[in-house]
Amino acid sequence: MQKEKRFDAKNGIQIMIRPANPDDSCAILNTVRSNALERSYVLMEQYGKDIAAEREYISGLDSKRNLLIVAAAASDLVGCLAALQADAGMRSETQHIVHIGLHLSEPFRGLGIGPKLLEYSIEWADAMGFKKIQANIFTTNRRSLSLFSKAGFVEEGVRQNRIRMGSHYVNEVLMGKMLQTQAGPGESRAFNQSLHRGAA
Ligand SMILES: CC(C)(COP(=O)(O)OP(=O)(O)OC[C@H]1O[C@@H](n2cnc3c(N)ncnc32)[C@H](O)[C@@H]1OP(=O)(O)O)[C@@H](O)C(=O)NCCC(=O)NCCS
Repeated sequence: MQKEKRFDAKNGIQIMIRPANPDDSCAILNTVRSNALERSYVLMEQYGKDIAAEREYISGLDSKRNLLIVAAAASDLVGCLAALQADAGMRSETQHIVHIGLHLSEPFRGLGIGPKLLEYSIEWADAMGFKKIQANIFTTNRRSLSLFSKAGFVEEGVRQNRIRMGSHYVNEVLMGKMLQTQAGPGESRAFNQSLHRGAA
């Protein structure tokens, strides 16, 4: 699959999607933290505590099992998506699953960038031999629920009062999508072989 993808957002600006590199650490943390400050959507545990930790995290990411991509407008990073193997790949029973989280900075929402990031990650997961993609979404996040539904994800369950926000609680929806993995790419075969070894 193509590593870089370009397209025009709904406001006409050109966006490039590409794999993240360690020099993106600061911009990634700024994007994710700007969302976290809204205290409505984002959990931070997937990201480094500071720039040095994030650099180390990106440098050490096993790209056969995990994907970290960014959306850039000219030289500005405007969003990112992480697709990480379930349970950090430590459980053979869940190695076929990848978990997704994505974030756009506020001025770049509603422009069709989220659907393109999600599409990229679905193609990657399929090519790498994963069988299923999951995402956890707060029930208050109508836009994200719409994004995932339109991409073919279905609701698998609701965890009631999962997130405490001050004095109230928010439910979390588990959304999932099965993939139609084809045998083919060398990486995909290697991944499937390692899955097999892990399950033995
Ligand atoms: C959620 C997010 C990734 C979506 O990406 P986006 O590029 O803004 O998505 P878009 O609005 O372009 O597209 C999503 C779809 O949701 C629809 N939508 C937008 N606002 C909506 C709302 N309030 N209620 C229902 N649907 C809505 C849009 O119509 C669009 O469908 P369309 O393409 O058929 O028109 C992005 O807004 C974001 O980063 N939000 C903050 C962080 C976050 O919530 N991350 C997800 C955590 S799982």
